Amino acid sequence: MKILVLGSGAREHAIVLALADEGAGHEVFAAPGNAGIARDATIVDVDMLDGAAMSSFANENGIGLVVVGPEAPLVAGVADELRERGIPVFGPGKAAAQLEGSKGFAKRIMDEANVPTGRAARAASADEVAAALDEFGAPYVVKADGLAAGKGVIVTDDRAAAIAHAEEYLPGGPVLIEEFLSGPEVSLFFLSDGDTVRALSPAQDFKRALDGDEGPNTGGMGAYSPLPWLADRFGDEAAFVDEVTNTIALPVIRQLDTEGTPFIGLLYAGLIITDDGVKVIEFNARFGDPETQIVLPRLTTPLSQLLLDAANGTLEDQPAPSFSDEVAVTVVLASEGYPESPVKGREITGLAEAEAVEGVHVAHAATAERDGRLIATGGRVLNVVARGADIAQARARAYEAISRITLEGGQFRTDIAAKVA
Ligand code: AMP
Ligand code: GLY
Repeated sequence: MKILVLGSGAREHAIVLALADEGAGHEVFAAPGNAGIARDATIVDVDMLDGAAMSSFANENGIGLVVVGPEAPLVAGVADELRERGIPVFGPGKAAAQLEGSKGFAKRIMDEANVPTGRAARAASADEVAAALDEFGAPYVVKADGLAAGKGVIVTDDRAAAIAHAEEYLPGGPVLIEEFLSGPEVSLFFLSDGDTVRALSPAQDFKRALDGDEGPNTGGMGAYSPLPWLADRFGDEAAFVDEVTNTIALPVIRQLDTEGTPFIGLLYAGLIITDDGVKVIEFNARFGDPETQIVLPRLTTPLSQLLLDAANGTLEDQPAPSFSDEVAVTVVLASEGYPESPVKGREITGLAEAEAVEGVHVAHAATAERDGRLIATGGRVLNVVARGADIAQARARAYEAISRITLEGGQFRTDIAAKVA
């Protein structure tokens, strides 16, 4: 099958690699891609935010499936346009993508569907912010309402810092003040065809920039899967997945369907396991980054079949996806200054040496090739992905591999999955 993947990050590289690993001879295209994706797919020079141009390309080239990676084209309505032209597409339309694009919309859907989540208040002025902060108390959680690439959120004990963060976003509209939820975080992905869902394997992401969960929130600095500690709390992983499917994913998918905005694509449930049960902290309308980089290498069911069944409304025909018992750990290499002001344009070397470590491959995020050299073009530059028999082995491989890569000023966390190894 000819498959077109939209996006340019390590998540999209992971999707491209998973499609290639099926060994089914798919012809994979990517727009805009990056230097790593260019090695594994044919790069297409069409603006991924231009639904009309993308539809024409897909029709003219016999594309059998379009997979939308990032949120921007979803929120821009690219999936709607492709679908209207009869092209199978994995990714929700603009209306359902509001689940990620608007935190206010997500809260309303959760209320209607009776989905467990923290209390929240919208605040449109400095006075409303102060009142909401005092109502919920410390630690304070303040969120911008639109897309902010994981950076619009602050969690702090410092009331002045919470107010300053709110004031930064208030000119753009109301901010959300939330009750702080305490407990371990889990990212759980659901493939959805608008009606039926199929869960992938749980993962955990490390969102803060620095070791020990210090520093600012980022898009994600590392991840691992599966989560051995889920079994202690829920008996086994399947019991946890069933609970989240029944109390969170299905009610949300049904609510969206009832409202005439079916969700076809990837429902990303960002969860906190509190003493009071599993609660939602956020939804995303696409695969998580970097979680995808460690979930897909463990998937043993062909990815293309799952995505196509979701796109075509036939997910019911698919059994639950299966996963290898191997564990996977990823560590993100980021540019100096990430997330505030990443330095761009520096050379990266040592990738072949890193990939020579057993069980390791590198998923590219912000890379480009210039004059035969590999250059970092953004904040999160690449993901070292390591598989192993257990977390200790996968971690050791990931850190050995990343130590072989050189990027001036490059930074990574040294404690990804350390507590569970
Ligand atoms: P979000 O963009 O909503 O996922 O928030 C980014 C990160 O901030 C989450 O992954 C959590 O680590 C943290 N966070 C967000 N909301 C809350 C909350 N209500 N309670 C505790 N931590 C939160
Ligand atoms: N890893 C967090 C996200 O994809 O939003």
